[in-house]
Amino acid sequence: MKDPIKVVVTGAAGRIANNILPRICHGDAFGSNQPVILSLLDITPALPVLKGIVMELEDCCFPLITSIETSDDPKVALKDADFALMLASYPFRPGMERVDLLIKNKAIFKQQGIALDTVAKKTVKVLVVGNPANTNCLVLSEHAPSIPKENFCALTRLDHNRAVSLLAARAGCTVRDIDGPVCIFGNHSSTMAVYAHSATVKGKKIQDVVEKDFFSREFEPLVQVRGGAIIKAKGTPSVFSAAAAIIDCIHDWMVGSEGRIVSMAVASSGKYGIPEGVFFSVPCKCEDGKYEVVDLDIDPSYKEEFEAKLQKSYQELISEAKLAEIY
Ligand code: LMR
Repeated sequence: MKDPIKVVVTGAAGRIANNILPRICHGDAFGSNQPVILSLLDITPALPVLKGIVMELEDCCFPLITSIETSDDPKVALKDADFALMLASYPFRPGMERVDLLIKNKAIFKQQGIALDTVAKKTVKVLVVGNPANTNCLVLSEHAPSIPKENFCALTRLDHNRAVSLLAARAGCTVRDIDGPVCIFGNHSSTMAVYAHSATVKGKKIQDVVEKDFFSREFEPLVQVRGGAIIKAKGTPSVFSAAAAIIDCIHDWMVGSEGRIVSMAVASSGKYGIPEGVFFSVPCKCEDGKYEVVDLDIDPSYKEEFEAKLQKSYQELISEAKLAEIY
């Protein structure tokens, strides 16, 4: 067994946390040999619910759990954190403008960024899920300047998983049969670009397996609006698919992606023509808690159109950052 790590979950009384906490405690995210000190953060009115959640987790007798703490104070919850999973964000309400959402979330992520900077370990890794995830991640990292930008990531694994699953359904195969890179670029929003031109199905090029029209016209918009389609169908946002994607993302980042290419929104570094200063989803390979951005060979016949899509998503991220008063 390794030494325990402290894992903080914000929004810990919420729906996604409810799906994710047992899986973290079971070792699905950090590995079956990694003990965890669990720190649950939520707002003051949610503390009684957190008490009940702790009772249930205790009743599960998870061998990997060293202790469980709860708090409504980020500076208490995040103290000495090794990993912070930021689920909490101000939700979109009917009648709200996007700017209102960004300003409300700026306040939350600024406070949590300052707390991270002050009390967390300098090696802490941070995954932001609460929407608008890429810009919330930017706000957080801007307010935690003593923590390297490479330690922050926003979730686009949900979009990645959706893309793989939609392709498999259309190709009439299982997700295991989809090989080669399928990757999300840009913002977790309708401007995201999905790159699957080099994917294969049981050794055949994906373009030779699914209909041309589906691949070139329908597939990407389906991925882009999938979150909204789920809200329309269920009346609530995605929960267990989000939880599954979070577990996949943490596992691959912290334990390793075993050579597979996965999608992560990370600090832009000039790759793919995206200047520094935003959190932009790109293809990554991970090992031992570190990611490396993969340079894909983009299909030359699609390159110009693809690059224009990346710039559109980048411009959206810049306008979000301006609304959040980062630039
Ligand atoms: C999703 O993609 O399912 C979510 O980000 C949607 C949402 O607004 O929570």
